Amino acid sequence: MKVVAVDGPGGAGKSSVSRALAARLGWSHLDTGAFYRAATLAVLRAGIDPDDASAVAALVAGLKFRQERASMFLDGEDVSEEIRTREVTAAVSIVSAHREVRRTLVRHQRQWVAAHPGPVVVEGRDIGSVVFPDADLKIWLMASSAERARRRAAETGEPVSAVAADLARRDEADSNRDASPQKPAADAIWVDTTNLAIDSVVERILAMIEPSGEVLPHPG
Ligand code: DC
Repeated sequence: MKVVAVDGPGGAGKSSVSRALAARLGWSHLDTGAFYRAATLAVLRAGIDPDDASAVAALVAGLKFRQERASMFLDGEDVSEEIRTREVTAAVSIVSAHREVRRTLVRHQRQWVAAHPGPVVVEGRDIGSVVFPDADLKIWLMASSAERARRRAAETGEPVSAVAADLARRDEADSNRDASPQKPAADAIWVDTTNLAIDSVVERILAMIEPSGEVLPHPG
């Protein structure tokens, strides 16, 4: 099994970069954030308080998750669009902070990779540190706060100031939670995407992977 882990905060370019990287390599791509978002959607639909750790964990344990290409399914329903709404985005940091929820979703993510025999690009927050600590290559993408907010606002059409406040709140929650907080693995390679186009970031990562899929030894 060959795994390239692409981690980093929201708006750092993880999604665009990891999808483009997987397409260039002809590898599978797994978006782990979509699992946390789908779980959050289920919590909101069930009218459960996202802070209620045991009720949330019990619900999430009984859900069926499926990811196929760019689509996310929850109990067989395609929820790819609904998991990107403001309501889900606002609550996902609370749901993803619960230890039991993470345990369940990490298991699903590992199963997904085990079920895909070829190499895979996995994007998330804790892929290199927790989900696949033995990943062949670990990339930590980052960008300035201003640039991350600008990108997210362009995606969602919301005002930059509102997006910046939401990103700051999620950074704070995701970095300070007890259960696998958002932080780079010690052996991750940092790529600052602030002034780089997606293609340039992809080229840099491709340069660390041989055409055969072997990961080249990284200088330093
Ligand atoms: O990448 P994203 O915005 O779709 O992620 C949604 C939320 O899920 C984000 O606030 C952090 C959480 N998340 C996580 O805790 N661990 C992951 N591996 C992926 C996402």
